[in-house]
Amino acid sequence: MRSNASGLGSHPKTDSILVEAVKRGLNTRVVGRSIVFLDETTSTNDEAKKLATQGATEGTVVLAKVQTAGRGRLGRQWYSPPGGVWMSIILRPDPYRVIQKITLLAGLAVAKTLRTFYKINAVLKWPNDVLVGDKKICGILTEGTFEGEIPLYVLVGIGLNANIDEEALREELRSEATSVKKLIRKEVSIIELLRHLLKTLDQDYQSFVSNKDEKLWSEYAKLSSTIGSDVRVDLGEGEVYEGRAEGISPEGGLIIKTEGGSMVTVLGGDCIHLKTKRKHEKG
Ligand code: BTN
Repeated sequence: MRSNASGLGSHPKTDSILVEAVKRGLNTRVVGRSIVFLDETTSTNDEAKKLATQGATEGTVVLAKVQTAGRGRLGRQWYSPPGGVWMSIILRPDPYRVIQKITLLAGLAVAKTLRTFYKINAVLKWPNDVLVGDKKICGILTEGTFEGEIPLYVLVGIGLNANIDEEALREELRSEATSVKKLIRKEVSIIELLRHLLKTLDQDYQSFVSNKDEKLWSEYAKLSSTIGSDVRVDLGEGEVYEGRAEGISPEGGLIIKTEGGSMVTVLGGDCIHLKTKRKHEKG
C-alpha cells in the first residue's frame, strides 16, 4: 500500500501516529476517548462488538484502512477499499433513549461536517444515507446488543467515501456513489476530517443524551431530502408504503401521508425517493 500519513496510506508507524494525530486537540467528552486503528479487518462493527463485550469504554472508535467484509444495511455488502473512513463507535446511551435516532444523529453529524468544513452540499436520505445530489457519499449501519428490550451498547458504523477515486469503485457503484475527493477535487486529510467529524458527533451526542436535542431534529429536517419527497418504503414481506414523506416521528421513524390520505409511520425499511422536492441548493 502507498505511504501517506495524512491520507490513510501505509507508514511503518502509521497506527500510533494516526491515533495521536486525530486525538491532538480533539477535546471531546465521549466520542474518541479511545481510538483503535487497524490496517485491515472484516468489519469495524465486528471489531467494535468484540471490544464492547470486553467492556470497552463508551466513545471508543475503531477505524480500519480496509474492510474485507464490510456490511451495509439490509444484509448488503459495503465495499471498503483504502481511502475511505470506515469506522465504528461504541456508545452506551441511556437505554430509554430512542436508539433508532442514533442513526439519524450520525448521518446529521456527517452532513454538517461536510457542509461546514468542505462546502459540500450534503443532504440526508432517511434513514441512513448521506447524499450529494442523488449520489451516496456515506452510509450508516447502527447495530445494538440488547438484554431483553434494554440495549447494552450500540455500535454506530460510519462508511464515508473520503479519498476514493471513481476508478477504485466497483463498476455498478460508479453511477450511484461519490466521494469527498471527487467533490473537492483534491485529497482530503483524513486526520482533519476525522477530527471535525468526531467533534461534531460528540457535541450532538451530548445534546441527545442530555435530552436537549430539539435543535438537532430541526437541523435534521432542514437537511432532509426525504421530507417533502414522494417515497416508497419497502418493509419486506410485501409490506410497502407509498406517499409523501411528511416528517420524522419522535422515535426516528418516517411519517408518510399515503395516497389515500392516511398517515403511517415506518421505523425502518428500504426507502426510495420517487420524486424529490428540490431544496438545499445552497449550503
Ligand atoms: C449502508 O449504507 O447500508 C450502511 C453502510 C455502513 C458501512 C460502515 S463502514 C464501517 C462499518 N463497518 C461495516 O461493516 N459497516 C459500517
